[in-house]
Amino acid sequence: MPRPLRVAIVGAGPAGIYAADALLKSEAAVDPGVSIDIFERMPAPFGLIRYGVAPDHPRIKGIITALHQVLDKPQVRLFGNVDYPGDISLDELRSFYDAVIFSTGATADRALDIPGVDLDGSYGAADFVSWYDGHPDVPRTWPLEAEKVAVLGVGNVALDVARILAKTADELLPTEIPANVYDGLKANKALEVHVFGRRGPAQAKFSPMELRELDHSPNIEVIVNPEDIDYDDGSIAERRGNKQTDMVAKTLENWAIRDIGERQHKLYLHFFESPSEILGEDGKVVGLRTERTELDGTGNVRGTGRFTDWDVQSVYRAVGYLSDELPKLPWDVATGTVPDEGGRVIDAGGHMQSTYVTGWIRRGPIGLIGHTKGDANETVANLLADHAEGRLATPASPEPEAVETFLAGRSVRYTTWEGWYRLDAAEKALGEPQGRARVKIVEREEMLDASGA
Ligand SMILES: Cc1cc2nc3c(=O)[nH]c(=O)nc-3n(C[C@H](O)[C@H](O)[C@H](O)COP(=O)(O)OP(=O)(O)OC[C@H]3O[C@@H](n4cnc5c(N)ncnc54)[C@H](O)[C@@H]3O)c2cc1C
Ligand SMILES: NC(=O)c1ccc[n+]([C@@H]2O[C@H](COP(=O)([O-])OP(=O)(O)OC[C@H]3O[C@@H](n4cnc5c(N)ncnc54)[C@H](OP(=O)(O)O)[C@@H]3O)[C@@H](O)[C@H]2O)c1
Repeated sequence: MPRPLRVAIVGAGPAGIYAADALLKSEAAVDPGVSIDIFERMPAPFGLIRYGVAPDHPRIKGIITALHQVLDKPQVRLFGNVDYPGDISLDELRSFYDAVIFSTGATADRALDIPGVDLDGSYGAADFVSWYDGHPDVPRTWPLEAEKVAVLGVGNVALDVARILAKTADELLPTEIPANVYDGLKANKALEVHVFGRRGPAQAKFSPMELRELDHSPNIEVIVNPEDIDYDDGSIAERRGNKQTDMVAKTLENWAIRDIGERQHKLYLHFFESPSEILGEDGKVVGLRTERTELDGTGNVRGTGRFTDWDVQSVYRAVGYLSDELPKLPWDVATGTVPDEGGRVIDAGGHMQSTYVTGWIRRGPIGLIGHTKGDANETVANLLADHAEGRLATPASPEPEAVETFLAGRSVRYTTWEGWYRLDAAEKALGEPQGRARVKIVEREEMLDASGA
């Protein structure tokens, strides 16, 4: 008697959920059917949409509504608060499923190797993001005593961090931020936020809309130094070939030539300043040293040997995210990803049977939520080709109850999709008296209780 194809997905971020969607829309879903279990270490699903996207971006957080339609399907189950490999190992997953897709994304900060990086007051952007997005596994307080702050990097994460530091707590109150984050931001003393790019305006990684949004806050004065507007042949080619780059450069040019206004918080966007050292005294940040750079003709830069010391009391490093290595899977140290071909995990012996990757753990921590969809489609197409050609290993216990019995035997307090609806309702109920759409529940135990785990 043919049985449904059993697939485990580890990581309930957008990539994992889009992979489930691709499986559900495949021919295999019709006959003999697919049965998908998604394992997630957080009590709630949605990955960086919940624990990365900034709270003042409700439209993006709204993508969760679309992802609901996938998790609502009867062929899909969620096992939240389940860690790979702490709660379930690769061999155990293989004993229950025909195939395993890893979509564990990225959670940490990429290292920045300059002196002073370990000083008190030098922070990774990912840690700050986790704090303001109410991640259960980080401290509840954040030191916001600095009046002048540096943010390193000119990508969208740097913009998020700079914007949250420069906005007032009351501007953020209507969002889903939990009470501890509102209280922390209320005590924020930052008056100046300085964002540093080591290259020029044509090399900034900002999205045009996210950049322009900075200017929408009644409390943020965005300032660009006209001397920082410079292009070489490489930059001009980049602007011609990429509409987004051109829009970003135009916005920066407009800001560089306008008069500086009176808004209370100044947000400076600096270019051609490469961070060379975080300066400290008594173990604490007291400044940032940057080296002026200049374009070399190709869009890259070289140092000029001219250094500037900036008076700042804290430094946020927004120079990229990094994935965690996954035990029992091969690992490419240089890219921080699992080696693959078309989503098939590749080790020394070729394709690791029945094992796949998708999303940021596959491609690295670059790209928007929507980009994970095409990636998931490719991985699933190859998984289904392997299935059709009989290349998947047969699991010892494919019946759906077997994994529930296993997790119960391990005393894993797992959450379910029905549990998410309960947590969702509890968070909405917390927001209602204040006229807010939701207030996030932060503590893991409280999340588990609200989910009825
Ligand atoms: C700060 C920030 C803000 C962003 N804002 C936007 C935005 O506004 N708009 C936009 O389009 N894109 C945004 N992005 C990009 C977007 O978040 C990513 O493109 C997308 O989340 C990547 O999806 P993913 O599923 O690969 O990874 P993730 O979203 O990271 O999901 C991975 C999931 O796997 C789980 N997991 C990890 N390890 C394990 C394990 N060992 N066992 C079990 N589960 C595990 C994690 O808890 C997580 O839920 C932002 C990114 C960052 C960093
Ligand atoms: N609202 C949104 O849509 C949103 C929000 C957040 C994140 N995201 C997406 O998530 C992805 C990750 O964003 P991200 O900002 O973490 O990464 P990113 O876009 O790659 O930006 C990283 C920045 O850090 C700089 N950098 C790297 N190493 C450095 C060093 N040693 N010294 C100085 N600067 C250094 C890079 O400069 P160089 O270019 O010179 O290397 C770049 O400006 C991106 O695709 C982003 O678009 C989207």
